[in-house]
Amino acid sequence: MSTDLDALIAQAQTQFAQSDTPAALEDAKARFLGKSGQITELMKGMAQLSVDEKKTRGAAINQAKQAIEKALQARRQDLADAELMRQLQAERLDVTLPGTLRQPGGLHPVSRTMERIEQIFGSMGFDVADGPEIESDWHSFTSLNNPPNHPARSMQDTFYVDIKDEQGQYYNLRPHTSPMQVRYAHQHVKKYADCTDADQTLPDVRVIAPGRTYRVDSDATHSPMFHQCEGLWLGQNVSFKDLKFVFTNFCKTFFERDDLVLRFRPSFFPFTEPSAEIDIQFASGPLAGRWLEVAGSGQVHPNVVRNMGLDPEKYIGFAFGMGPDRLTMLRYGVNDLRLFFDGDIRFLSQFQ
Ligand code: DAH
Repeated sequence: MSTDLDALIAQAQTQFAQSDTPAALEDAKARFLGKSGQITELMKGMAQLSVDEKKTRGAAINQAKQAIEKALQARRQDLADAELMRQLQAERLDVTLPGTLRQPGGLHPVSRTMERIEQIFGSMGFDVADGPEIESDWHSFTSLNNPPNHPARSMQDTFYVDIKDEQGQYYNLRPHTSPMQVRYAHQHVKKYADCTDADQTLPDVRVIAPGRTYRVDSDATHSPMFHQCEGLWLGQNVSFKDLKFVFTNFCKTFFERDDLVLRFRPSFFPFTEPSAEIDIQFASGPLAGRWLEVAGSGQVHPNVVRNMGLDPEKYIGFAFGMGPDRLTMLRYGVNDLRLFFDGDIRFLSQFQ
């Protein structure tokens, strides 16, 4: 091969080697192999040669072209390999690291309590109802015999929502589950309204309503979000005696022990008359001898029965509201309510 061709190959090799990126390499390629590249120019230059000369010169140029193409391929491969290495370095994957294990989950202790409550009251014939957490003023207060400006409204430090209902009253984050008494009775009022005096037995209203509730409160025994479970049993002849039986039965089943007693301590709630705070006392164990408050209760006020769309002359009964968070603390011996809502897996995993 003639020296000009050897020089050309050497020149191409050098320029390819100096091209650091695929784009620069393609530019260099164009200078040798492109439409107006040096090889093409050499081909054009053969026009004046004789047939024999064309053969040898043509073959030589072709060889040079092949050599340049080979050099180009080699350089392309080098650049691709370098890029791959760079990526591998950057996205290094250490397959010897321990994997991220997915721990099997479990029910939150308060959810366990809720399930137990539903199960126990379900076995006593109570329906389970669910309702809104953003509640109207009427449902949270007025319907429960607690009208606007009544001092009993300040018993609960309520969160208000910046939306007004048709009566111009603000919605609230329900401070208790009691509005569910009225909601549930309304939902089923047709069933009750369809019954006439002639009926031998009016159907009972018997329901519990567990759920989240909210108050402006935060310390070891109060959290701004907490849980309540409402209970309601209305019928033709439902009395405090039934409340005592039902609630005692519930406590014994819930705590899985018979050595506990209940105390009904007179109290005030606008929606019940008379009203009572329910305290329990264990005969043994770490809490033995202490009275522990677990629920508010009472005979449903006639005004509330009326607001349910029922006739207080026909329907009488009791309601109660208890705190599943507190029941959970008592059952498991937890002393700070906030632990339930911190989401700390070290605490929660103890209940699995
Ligand atoms: N709603 C009351 C509270 O949050 C608890 C309560 C008391 C509920 C008496 C009732 C009841 O149904 O009869 O403090």
